[in-house]
Amino acid sequence: MADHEFHLPEDPMDGLLEWLEKARLDAIPEHIAMTLSTVSSEGQPSARIVYFKGFSALASGERCPRFFTNYESQKSREMNENPRVSLLFYWPAQWRQVRIEGRVEKVSDEESNAYFQTRARGSRIGAWASPQSSVIKSREELEARVNEVAERYEGKEIPCPPFWGGWRVIPERVEFWHGGESRLHDREVFTRAGRGWTRARLAP
Ligand SMILES: Cc1cc2nc3c(=O)[nH]c(=O)nc-3n(C[C@H](O)[C@H](O)[C@H](O)COP(=O)(O)O)c2cc1C
Repeated sequence: MADHEFHLPEDPMDGLLEWLEKARLDAIPEHIAMTLSTVSSEGQPSARIVYFKGFSALASGERCPRFFTNYESQKSREMNENPRVSLLFYWPAQWRQVRIEGRVEKVSDEESNAYFQTRARGSRIGAWASPQSSVIKSREELEARVNEVAERYEGKEIPCPPFWGGWRVIPERVEFWHGGESRLHDREVFTRAGRGWTRARLAP
């Protein structure tokens, strides 16, 4: 059962880091997995999991949660059309949820390149080989593409593909939910107010 500590710091990104760190220390599997929801230009929502890969800083120093993907994928097409997205973390063993709403923008090429070079070689090859979200004929076709890319870069550095990189979510509303007994859950929402945040407790 969840404990009832619910003392969040002033900046919701610090709160997110605290909760992520707790999930990591508790060895929660896939604790950096988050659901990214996009909405197409026709208003059709679509959700999928991506990995939280730290923050990207705005010029003001503000931190924005970041993830990496193919810039020609369905999600990227939708974010190009409509930058309003939500991110959702859920850690079942801790009965905690963090919900983030805001606008996305691409991170700089330098930032994408720097992150790309930290990825395992197989993942770097995969980024080049997989035309994410396009129809492919078969598993064999994908494997042939992987082999072709692996050969092309054998013994060489693998550069970041121009069609691959990071997106950052500029948070506007961040809600923390912590399950409690008898459905008396704690909820606190942070809403952007200029350079700071206003906070409010919500009924569960
Ligand atoms: C645990 C988990 C982590 C994932 N992490 C990523 C990720 O960081 N980036 C990514 O592009 N896809 C990731 N995926 C795959 C996506 O869920 C999705 O299938 C893919 O990005 C294509 O989505 P789209 O067609 O909506 O663009 C992950 C899937 C799972 C289950």
